[in-house]
Amino acid sequence: MASDITDFYLNGIFQKRVVRTKPDEVVEPVGEIINFPKFNDMVYEENVKDAINLILSRIKSGKINILLYGSAGTGKTATAQMFAVETNRPFIYLTGTQGTKKILKMLINAKENAIALIDEIHNLPEKVAEIIYPAIQDGEIYSEGKRIKLKNIMFVGTTTEPEKLPKPLLDRFQMIEFEELSPEKMKEVLIKKGCDKYVVDYLLNFTSNFRIINNLLEMIKMYGEINEMNLRKVFRLKKINLYSGLSDYQEKYLDILKKSEKPVGLRTIGLQLMKGEDYIKYEIEPDLVRKKMIVVTSRGRELEPSMKEYGYSQLKKESEKIHSKFTEEDRRMAISWLKEQKQITEALGKRYLEVVNAVAEMIHNGEIPDGVDWGSYADDIPVKQSMENNRGILEEL
Ligand SMILES: Nc1ncnc2c1ncn2[C@@H]1O[C@H](COP(=O)(O)OP(=O)(O)O)[C@@H](O)[C@H]1O
Ligand SMILES: [Mg+2]
Repeated sequence: MASDITDFYLNGIFQKRVVRTKPDEVVEPVGEIINFPKFNDMVYEENVKDAINLILSRIKSGKINILLYGSAGTGKTATAQMFAVETNRPFIYLTGTQGTKKILKMLINAKENAIALIDEIHNLPEKVAEIIYPAIQDGEIYSEGKRIKLKNIMFVGTTTEPEKLPKPLLDRFQMIEFEELSPEKMKEVLIKKGCDKYVVDYLLNFTSNFRIINNLLEMIKMYGEINEMNLRKVFRLKKINLYSGLSDYQEKYLDILKKSEKPVGLRTIGLQLMKGEDYIKYEIEPDLVRKKMIVVTSRGRELEPSMKEYGYSQLKKESEKIHSKFTEEDRRMAISWLKEQKQITEALGKRYLEVVNAVAEMIHNGEIPDGVDWGSYADDIPVKQSMENNRGILEEL
């Protein structure tokens, strides 16, 4: 237990007063040794790769404060973690939302030689920035009027908006710009994450946003391994059209623009889709812009001229025509699914080809063959007919 002792006079007599202060807190040293991602888990364009390699070799022997800037989802946060992994330094994650008290405490108790990531550094509330800037610039912080020297912490900031940072602070950083990955490099990342070429194609046909891709991959993993069958389940659940690569919301969004003669404002679209403006701006629009389907101007949103002529409904119709019933890929998947389903192939042996076609069609429609009561099918009735019968029963129920 800590205490403060003060001397004072009372009635001419020298006295001592002992005041108990807060119990001594047990302070845990802050900073974690992490082991992912490694340098080899990351994919960079050549020029960025060179810069990163140079930095890596330098921070293995000493510290440099680094600012990683560029668009969202280009791997800035992951790279900061990679620096900690590759240099074997304890890693500390700081963001504005943690509040001044907590951040002070983390910095004071940081382990020796730690790397502190200040994620989205342009977003720091002023109070937090007041602590962090001197920490970066002079390696010390001010707490309750006292100066405290930090234990050789190296700072890595990430930001999408470097122009919002004060110039003197920028001067303290070694800066590296992150560019959007080319489609080839994106493929490389997805293959590193365990996707096969079909999964890669479908994912990239839908989005090039890694945050969204990572969410989809997490969902796919809930179904089992990352493969086309599980991807289809997730796309169906999330209402993403496998072939057009558009979500239900994106289709509705395009419909709204198509029906309007003039550019449409974000607010109007939000009201019609019953979605917030941020959701539209960050989830719905970026991929439509990238796919050159819409143009975003200060007057509002409109279809790209080529989309106006061609029209989305036509695009959709054609994609449905091409993919009527099922494709060779659906069939290939049906066969590989059936390989695992010995009971079905045994029970419906002579109708094997019909089963394959039925399963392929289900897969094509994003339905899940596991959901069918195959055990109730008899081999003296065509599979299609059993399906119809079962549907009839289900509807009566
Ligand atoms: N260049 C890259 N190499 C490997 N993975 C990447 C790359 N860029 C993004 N990713 C993947 O996308 C995810 C999000 O990237 P992140 O580092 O959070 O981007 P940022 O911080 O630039 O917005 C990462 O966890 C990683 O899985
Ligand atoms: Mg980030």
